[in-house]
Amino acid sequence: MKKKICIIKGDGIGPEIIEEAVNVLNLIAKKYGHHFEYQEAWAGGSAWEKYGNHLPLETLRVAENSDAILFGAVGGRSEERNEPKWKNCEKNSVLVLRKHFNLFLNLRPAIVFNSLKNISVLKSKLLLENKIDLILVRELTGGIYFSEHKTEKGVAEDVMRYSEGEIRRVAKFAFELAKKRRKKLTSVDKANVLDCSRLWRKVVEGVAKDYPEVELEHLYIDNASFQMVKNPFQFDVILTENMFGDILSDLLALFSGSIGILPSASLNETYFGLYEPVSGSAPDIAGYGIANPIGQILSTALMMRYSFGLEKEAKNIEQAVKRTLEQGYRTFDIWEKGCQKLTTREIGGKICQNI
Ligand code: IPM
Ligand code: MG
Repeated sequence: MKKKICIIKGDGIGPEIIEEAVNVLNLIAKKYGHHFEYQEAWAGGSAWEKYGNHLPLETLRVAENSDAILFGAVGGRSEERNEPKWKNCEKNSVLVLRKHFNLFLNLRPAIVFNSLKNISVLKSKLLLENKIDLILVRELTGGIYFSEHKTEKGVAEDVMRYSEGEIRRVAKFAFELAKKRRKKLTSVDKANVLDCSRLWRKVVEGVAKDYPEVELEHLYIDNASFQMVKNPFQFDVILTENMFGDILSDLLALFSGSIGILPSASLNETYFGLYEPVSGSAPDIAGYGIANPIGQILSTALMMRYSFGLEKEAKNIEQAVKRTLEQGYRTFDIWEKGCQKLTTREIGGKICQNI
């Protein structure tokens, strides 16, 4: 298979962790006889340095001309967020990319490796008896993120807006996913307060009629957060709007032991996608070669699965990560006694060996 992949390293640890992911892609290409062609493009602070703009047109053109985007992370230190290089950096880059490519479907699986059960916030005893196998489906191009924002005379306003169409298309994907899994879908909203949530619920119930085999439940966002920590094992597919999904996805990351482990896929109707780790740019540890590349590497597995339909290759990458952790290799964020602490490059190398 021949594919063009747009590589956007971004800022902070982005370049370091992407390098390991590209090594993995090269190995997969070799092993399975594919040809991946890479084209680099810039976004965020690094684009601002090069082009004076957080998302130059060149980047959009390169991305449009590709089959998938591998994205590192953008953004700088919070103390520097008012400097021109970093001001509105995330909003001007990654949010624009999501909208430009209509990536309304964001998949964030919760992944808890058995070998990391001691560093998960959940009691290891619980994790021995139960398995977390849940995937968060977050609507990504609507809601409060993408409506009007303004500040005038000491009053700030951010509008939340959803259309039936926007809700329906993401709900369909979530039901399709649940149908292939354990057939349970939890829709999260705030229908006791928000009009957007009442519409959300109505549309989701409409879509549910086409999926009688899938059990549907509704939870309010506050209760969903509570339930998520109390008993995460009860969930299969969770469907929610943009802002609630942003918050819940960080919560999910706690279970895995480190935010550096989790991948994400952002897709449109054609399964064109942007693949990025959930971790962000982590400027405080950038440049030391110690960042955890696993979230980025697992993002390439999602790319194989969702954009290229290469399930065997996706599983190979996931198994290699699992095996590497079982062998006791760790980056500093997931290190525990008796394990070997490795650099970004070293753990990337071990994962490649296991492929
Ligand atoms: C995420 C991030 C982004 C979001 C930021 C960087 C704009 O937190 O992908 O979860 O809020 O969507
Ligand atoms: Mg977030």
